[in-house]
Amino acid sequence: MRDKKILITGGAGFIGSHVVRLFCNKYDQYKIFNLDKLTYAGNLENLEDIESFPNYKFIKGDVVDHDFINDLFDKEQFDSVIHLAAESHVDRSIEDPMAFINTNVFGTVNLLNAAKTIWNKDGKYAEQHLFYHVSTDEVYGSLGAEGLFTEDTSYDPKSPYSASKASSDHFVRAYANTYRMPIVITNCSNNYGANQFPEKLLPLFINNIKESKPLPVYGDGKYTRDWLWVNDHATAIDTVFHKGEKGETYNIGGFNEWMNIDLIKLLCKIMDHKLSRSKGTSEQLITYVKDRPGHDKRYAIDANKIKNKLGWEPSVTFEEGLEKTVDWYLENEKWLNNVTSGAYKEYYKKQYG
Ligand code: NAD
Ligand code: TYD
Repeated sequence: MRDKKILITGGAGFIGSHVVRLFCNKYDQYKIFNLDKLTYAGNLENLEDIESFPNYKFIKGDVVDHDFINDLFDKEQFDSVIHLAAESHVDRSIEDPMAFINTNVFGTVNLLNAAKTIWNKDGKYAEQHLFYHVSTDEVYGSLGAEGLFTEDTSYDPKSPYSASKASSDHFVRAYANTYRMPIVITNCSNNYGANQFPEKLLPLFINNIKESKPLPVYGDGKYTRDWLWVNDHATAIDTVFHKGEKGETYNIGGFNEWMNIDLIKLLCKIMDHKLSRSKGTSEQLITYVKDRPGHDKRYAIDANKIKNKLGWEPSVTFEEGLEKTVDWYLENEKWLNNVTSGAYKEYYKKQYG
């Protein structure tokens, strides 16, 4: 494998930190640049174990900052980009859509422009050039009781978050079509695992159970999500980056659908056991609250393309992944305390009272 300079954006966040760690550990010959603005969701504690690796460099910066991005690409001459930096939480997108348009749409187009400028100087791209956009299954909208999202499902985003991600996917494809940019897009289902900010369902509920706080279940809890362990998302990204066909889209998922309320009850059972509390203790914390506006009913991924064409499959069952995840949050009290202090308290109060 030849040397490569790879820019990973959003590497201090949840999924990005697992991708950066995997690439830094696995590929000595690559130089990994992690560009991150360090928003509330970015946390360098997520990368403490690799921060002194010679093949790793952190750069603090904003993908929306046009001049900064152009100068950075000009200076570093990256070979490829794996773009994860984004505003990622649906509830926040309902409160403040503009922040999502800025980072997810303008930020992505800034990166595409900068890559085009350095890669396409003489009208053609080199073999190592690749713009990899990490996206979500939420761009496909919401399913009824039957069916799965395939790569051919029409886009039908329904939240400001998914609309911004759909828009950025469209721009990435438009750059492939118009400027022949070598691209790949993956659309992944809901991730869970270590380092996830406790605003998303699983880390929020793990932390609340630990602190015996109410578990705010939106609506009737009969919404379905398809869950994938974040470490498996990172191996899927590694697979697509190295083996994916340029110009293609791959859905990533684990064929692992759970209705929220069933998942929450399973989590309660695991937490009772881990915390040596009597059976049923955590379930008593379940509190039905006002539904999320425009709440998507069901997401479910058909992950056959990545399995059949590239040979990728998840490495753990959901039960194994969930147990590892719970163990991680219970063992990493300092991490959890740090991220739930300060501004988090304000957010939590505003969101849940
Ligand atoms: P996250 O919110 O945990 O992390 C996002 C990271 O991006 C943070 O480190 C943040 O500091 C950084 N960032 C935000 N705005 C930035 C800006 N303007 N400039 C530079 N850096 C900025 O998100 P995540 O859950 O790790 O998601 C990463 C990517 O994967 C996103 O593009 C998201 O849409 C996609 N995705 C997420 C999931 C999921 O379940 N979490 C599923 C599928 C796809
Ligand atoms: P979330 O983790 O926000 O991911 P997404 O909305 O991107 O799928 O939410 C997962 C599911 O859990 C979703 O159906 C909304 C629901 N949910 C709750 O019921 N209560 C909560 O406090 C949160 C954050 C989510």
